[in-house]
Amino acid sequence: MDIPKHIAIIMDGNGRWAVKRSLSRIAGHKEGIKTVEEIIKASNEIGITVLTLYAFSTENWARPLAEVKGLFSLLKFFLRKKIKEFQKNNIKLKTIGNISKLPADVVKEIKSAIKITSENTGLIVNIALNYGGRQEIIEAINKILESGIKNIDEKNFEKYIYTAGLPDPDLIIRTSGEYRISNFLMWQSAYSEFYTTNILWPDFKKKDLLDAISEYNRRNRRFGGLEHVK
Ligand code: FPP
Repeated sequence: MDIPKHIAIIMDGNGRWAVKRSLSRIAGHKEGIKTVEEIIKASNEIGITVLTLYAFSTENWARPLAEVKGLFSLLKFFLRKKIKEFQKNNIKLKTIGNISKLPADVVKEIKSAIKITSENTGLIVNIALNYGGRQEIIEAINKILESGIKNIDEKNFEKYIYTAGLPDPDLIIRTSGEYRISNFLMWQSAYSEFYTTNILWPDFKKKDLLDAISEYNRRNRRFGGLEHVK
């Protein structure tokens, strides 16, 4: 079986999972974190190189303040709780997105976790926070303009986006039966395989990740050419 190097996930359906049980939306996100833990563990076992998780988009600020605050506080406690395990398992934390707009205590926790895990050489857990694909491209263009460069090609452009140095996602998974890309990895997803499942994120298990990888193996990735390239 061909294991994708980079899997990116749009973790959707926490709210619906909670509503179905007459729980608060934040209870759904809490349950979603359990899935995050399981999928990180599984990705490490399977030998994936990069796992990108869409945790907070540039559009998510439009949610009620209590939910936004709740999400950030869950993230903070998640990082605190997991740091030892990340160290033990050689996992490196990275983020993409403009984290400077996040609450200061959360930024501090993120920076500390990034620093502590910076020498690790195993799985890269890449969390998208205040991330938007369009924002990423615009920020890159502004950096390029500021640098005075007059001409740019694809290879050099990639040095200016958040994912500089990371491979493009081979497989993008979206849970909860939605078929949208939602401003996620707009540049990087040019040739990614897209997989959707009706399973809500809190119900998504290791088995479901393996199902997605099996389906990915059945796809014939041609990258615009004719050969079966794997
Ligand atoms: C989508 O469900 C989920 C989010 C916007 C947040 C995802 C965040 C987590 C799983 C927790 C924090 C993450 C980490 C990495 C610690 P939704 O609320 O849009 O669900 P709905 O569409 O059913 O309402």
